[in-house]
Amino acid sequence: MALKRILSGMRPTGKLHLGNLHGALANWIDLQNSGKYECFYFVADWHAFTSEYNSTEGIRDNITSMVIDWLAAGLDPKKSTLFVQSAVKEHAELFLLLSMITPLAWLERNPTYKEMKAELSNKDLSTFGFLGYPVLQAADIIMYKAYGVPVGVDQLPHVELTREIARRFNYLYKEVFPIPEPLLAGVTKLLGIDGRKMSKSYENSIYISDTGKALQQKISAMFTDPQRVKKTDPGDPGICNVFTFHGLYTPQDKVKQIDADCRKAAIGCTDCKKMLAARVAEVMKPIHERIDYYVHHLAEIKEIIDEGNKRAAKVARQTMEEVREAVKI
Ligand code: TRP
Ligand code: SF4
Repeated sequence: MALKRILSGMRPTGKLHLGNLHGALANWIDLQNSGKYECFYFVADWHAFTSEYNSTEGIRDNITSMVIDWLAAGLDPKKSTLFVQSAVKEHAELFLLLSMITPLAWLERNPTYKEMKAELSNKDLSTFGFLGYPVLQAADIIMYKAYGVPVGVDQLPHVELTREIARRFNYLYKEVFPIPEPLLAGVTKLLGIDGRKMSKSYENSIYISDTGKALQQKISAMFTDPQRVKKTDPGDPGICNVFTFHGLYTPQDKVKQIDADCRKAAIGCTDCKKMLAARVAEVMKPIHERIDYYVHHLAEIKEIIDEGNKRAAKVARQTMEEVREAVKI
């Protein structure tokens, strides 16, 4: 029996942080390694244009550094198809056709659209492309007749819209597309070093590629339990971001020990962070070694992407033949 197909994408934001690693990326890698799915993962570089159309000079480098992080973290081009959206022009053709059948009202009421537009108020996002973001995303997904789309909660409205657009296409023309399911993973929420959401734009991120002194310094700057002013004050690990990190990087028995010690002020935050820095460096070591390898073997990255682009294009070409047949063009 053919494996069910999974598809997901990320905008090329450049190097990824630990929030990305333990969120989306870990989920992608688990799905890949489960052996139950045929996975397609891609860089949504056209999507970057919807908000960054006036500063595109970094996009190519960002694609490369993001793919390096993907590979270093465990995406395997032998198991998954890794490709770049703009290399598969069929996405643009399907986007165009879907834009013809998507009611404006569906796009205007999209909560992600409203939020992003308000949040990025320093940019002029009153563009056709920005409003059409989810239509392009729908084209990405249904092109591969994906059964499942691993995404975070923020992307749920987009997948819901994809389902509606796919249904509308099937209804207007012909049953070409399966209706995709969102696949939500239960992930640990890591905050940035300043206690806000970890985000590149807040400059509060610990990157996958951070090593040595830079890594130590960032960890030593992390916010902890804000009520714990003096070392003699008992702390509450339940509200401490450092403790959340320990949960991911430190052996369970040690985590229990820290929990108990923190609550009775038997450990100070400085030592607690030193322990964390050592653990993160240790756990990330193989990933750092692979990053170092790929940074010096960029030709390999290019080959991997070229190969993935070819595999993706083959599926996309076939879908577009069916689509043109269905719409009678
Ligand atoms: N919108 C997604 C994000 O910002 C990226 C994306 C583009 C995507 N096309 C997709 C995700 C298709 C899943 C499926 O993270
Ligand atoms: Fe957080 Fe560790 Fe300090 Fe407790 S001791 S508040 S867990 S950093």
